[in-house]
Amino acid sequence: MTEQNLNFIDEVRRRRTFAIISHPDAGKTTLTEKFLLYGGAIRSAGSVKSRRSQKHAVSDWMEIEKQRGISVTSSVLQFEYNNFCINILDTPGHQDFSEDTYRTLMAADSAVMVIDSAKGVEDQTKKLFQVCKMRGIPIFTFINKMDRTGREPFELLEDIENVLGIRSCPMNWPIGSGKDFKGVYNRHKEQIEVFDDGNHGQSIADAIKGDLTDEKFNDLLGPGLHEQLMGDIELLDIAGDNFDLDKILKGELTPVFFGSALTNFGVEPFLESFLDITMPPTPRISNLGEIDPESDNFSGFIFKIQANMDPAHRDRIAFLRICSGKFEKGMAVNHVQRNKKVKLAQPQQFVAQDRVMVTSAYPGDIIGIHDPGIFNIGDTLSAKQSKLKYKGIPQFAPEHFATISTKNSLKRKQFLKGITQIAQEGAIQVYKRPNIGIEEVIVGVVGVLQFEVLEYRLKNEYGVDITMQRLPYRYIRWVEMDNFNAARFSMTMDTMLVENKDEEPVLLFQNEWSIRQIIERNEGLSLRETSLVE
Ligand code: G4P
Repeated sequence: MTEQNLNFIDEVRRRRTFAIISHPDAGKTTLTEKFLLYGGAIRSAGSVKSRRSQKHAVSDWMEIEKQRGISVTSSVLQFEYNNFCINILDTPGHQDFSEDTYRTLMAADSAVMVIDSAKGVEDQTKKLFQVCKMRGIPIFTFINKMDRTGREPFELLEDIENVLGIRSCPMNWPIGSGKDFKGVYNRHKEQIEVFDDGNHGQSIADAIKGDLTDEKFNDLLGPGLHEQLMGDIELLDIAGDNFDLDKILKGELTPVFFGSALTNFGVEPFLESFLDITMPPTPRISNLGEIDPESDNFSGFIFKIQANMDPAHRDRIAFLRICSGKFEKGMAVNHVQRNKKVKLAQPQQFVAQDRVMVTSAYPGDIIGIHDPGIFNIGDTLSAKQSKLKYKGIPQFAPEHFATISTKNSLKRKQFLKGITQIAQEGAIQVYKRPNIGIEEVIVGVVGVLQFEVLEYRLKNEYGVDITMQRLPYRYIRWVEMDNFNAARFSMTMDTMLVENKDEEPVLLFQNEWSIRQIIERNEGLSLRETSLVE
C-alpha cells in the first residue's frame, strides 16, 4: 500500500514497534534477518552479515564506530510485512552491552525474547527481561535452535517460569527435535505445520499444513513422532496456562513459540501470530496524562544519543521515538526541557540495512535527528503542547566502576567537559566522592567496553590522557531516606558513599550481603535499583 491511499489513523494502526532481547548467540541476528527475508526486505538470508561485526574485539569497535554506518543502522530497522509496518529495535550484546541496551527497551511497545533451546534462560536475557517487566510490556518468547539437540520443551517452559517468574502459554509445539525437527503444531489453528528445509534456510520455507488426523502426516512424520505429538498435546491441555490476551498485553503471561531461525522452521507462524496479538502504539504516560498516539499533535522523546567519532565534528544523532501525531521533514517543534523551538534537520530513518532521509513518519517509528549538542536522553519534543513531558528514562544500574583523573592537571577543563558530554549521551554515569576535588571522578558503566571507549574518546576528542583505576564494586543503589545524614549513616567497611551530579547520595556495594546489612542497620532507608528521572 502506498502512503497516498492511507490516512494518518491507518498508518498508526499498522505500526508495530518491538525490541528483540536475548543472550549473545541465541540467534537474535539470524531471526531478525529472517524477518527481513519474510518481509521481502532482503532477497536471501546471509546478506546481513555486516551485523555480525558487532561481535568483535575492542580495537575493531573503534574502527567500526568511526565508520558510523553499521552500528547506527543496526540499532533500528524498519520493514513491511503483510501491510504491517514493523520497527525492530536491536539491543546490542557482547562487548557492546551498555546502558543503551536497556534504554532501547523504553522505546519499544513489546519485546521478543529469543532463547537457545540448549541453554534455556541466560544471564543477559534475565537482565533485559527485568526492564521489560518493569515497563509491563508484552513479552513474546521464541525458543530457537530446535534443529539442534536441546533441552526438553516442558523443561524449557519450566525454566522460563522459574528463572523469570512469568507464566507461559505455548502457542505452538515442536514436532521432533535435533535432526528430526519437522515442524510445529499450531495450537490456535489446531493444525500441524511441517516445513521443507528448501535451501538451508536461505529462502522462505514451504509448509505442508493439515489437521492432526490427516493421514499424510503418518508418512511425513513417521509413527513415533506422531504419537509423541498426540501425547504432548494432551499433556499441554492439562498442564499449560491458557491463552489470556489481557495477561499477555500486561506482560504477565508470555506466549511461547518453538522454531529454528536458521532453517526458517516456525519463523513465519511466529511472525504472523505475534503481529496478530501485539498492539499498535498505545498511549504513553506524560505529565499531562496519557497521550493518544492518534492525536494530531506531533510528539516524541529521545531515548538514545549516538556520538560521532569524527573529531572534526562533534555532531551527534539523537534517536527519537514518535509517540503521537505525524512527523514531517523540517518541522519546527518545542524542545520542552529547554523551552526552545528547534527545527528537526536531516531526519533519518533506518530501512532494512540502509539509512534514508525521512520525509514523514508516524507514532511507533524511530527517527534519527541531527543533534548539535542540545538534546539529553529523556527529552520531549512536541509540536503544539509546549509543556508536554513524557515520563523520564531511568538511569540503569552500572555494574563496573573506576576512578578516573586527568594525568595533566592543566587539562582539567577539557577533562570535565569531555566527561560531562559523554555522560550526557548516557554512555557513562559520573559520581563524586564527597569532599574530593573535581579532578577525580568515579565512573560507572553497564558494559566494560565503555571504559575503553571513554579513554579513547577523551584522548581523541578532548586531548586528555587519563589514569583509570578499576574499583571492586558491582552494585549501585540510589538512596531514599528522609533527612539523610552521612555522618550518622551506618556503613559496612566495603561500601562506598558517593554523590550524583545533583549531590544526592548513592551507594556502591561489593556484594549483596552488604546491601542487606545496610538496610538492616539504617531505619527508614530504602534503596532503589534504578534512578528515576522526572
Ligand atoms: P545473536 O545475534 O543472538 O548473537 O546470534 P546469531 O544470530 O549471530 O547466532 C549465533 C549462532 O547461532 C550463529 O552461528 C548462527 O548461525 C547460529 N544459529 C542461529 N539460529 C540458529 C538455529 O535456529 N539453529 C542453529 N543450529 N543455529 C542457529 P555461528 O557459527 O556463530 O555463525 P555462522 O558462522 O553460522 O554465521
